[in-house]
Amino acid sequence: MHSLRNALEQAQKNGVAVGHFNVADLILLKAAFAAAQELNVPVMIGVSEGERQFVGDRQIAALVRSLREEFDFPIFLNADHTHSLAKAMEAAKAGFDSIVFDLSALPFDENARQTKEAVAALKKINPNILIEGEIGDIGTGSEIHEEAPDISKGLTNPAEAKQFVEATRVDILAPAVGNMHGMLKSMVQGETRKHLDIARIAQIKSATRIPLTLHGGSGTDDEDLRKAIAAGINIVHINTELRVAWRRGLEQGLAKEPNEVVPYKVLPTAVEAVKQVVLSRLKLFNNR
Ligand code: G3H
Ligand code: ZN
Repeated sequence: MHSLRNALEQAQKNGVAVGHFNVADLILLKAAFAAAQELNVPVMIGVSEGERQFVGDRQIAALVRSLREEFDFPIFLNADHTHSLAKAMEAAKAGFDSIVFDLSALPFDENARQTKEAVAALKKINPNILIEGEIGDIGTGSEIHEEAPDISKGLTNPAEAKQFVEATRVDILAPAVGNMHGMLKSMVQGETRKHLDIARIAQIKSATRIPLTLHGGSGTDDEDLRKAIAAGINIVHINTELRVAWRRGLEQGLAKEPNEVVPYKVLPTAVEAVKQVVLSRLKLFNNR
């Protein structure tokens, strides 16, 4: 039986990270699964509150479970950026493997108090579910942003990270270490890259000793990603890069067949475009 806890322990042992890819439809899910299958590495599928509203909690849970069972494959489902206990409970009941309980916009004490309560409530529904807590500021959505947000004041402090993990008993921590959600136009064009505070990651790891997630992975410098994984990052989230490939792939598929109305003849171009991005990231995260 595949378990996310086990996949994270193996990743830590092997000095690699589990790739986490957000999906909002079957194109993205097929692409992420095909890439993971090709490389034979564990993979996490993420669905944020907005993505879940579109695909349905129970529906995506059934799809991911069917892939795991039919192919005996370590594919896991994460309820990404969940901002209320009610939504987190829906995901836990639907059978998700993990939940990012994200109250990072609240003051530290309030975030810690409510996250602690959520951990207890969610483990009652499923004792094996993993809960990720989040502190610090990593900006807003997985979109193309006009301007860079100022995330310098919201970086996670290692002592606070330790205090948060001890107070809440989260299984996984998402720190702010120079990462941010989304991409700038210059990143989409490949002219600029995000850079990470590697020393801070190492300090947070030694202070907390639990799995760490890097959010906002799109557009990050490859060398920084390698160093971040070596310093203790165990999960890397990628969304915007997939969304860009999804849109371009769809446009190409439609342009190639201007009169085609059969979806399964048009959509494989989009699946392939997204799959190439996932392959490239999974190779990097797994030192291939
Ligand atoms: O939770 C999702 C991610 O953190 C994705 O961030 O869109 O910058 O890749 P990204
Ligand atoms: Zn995120």
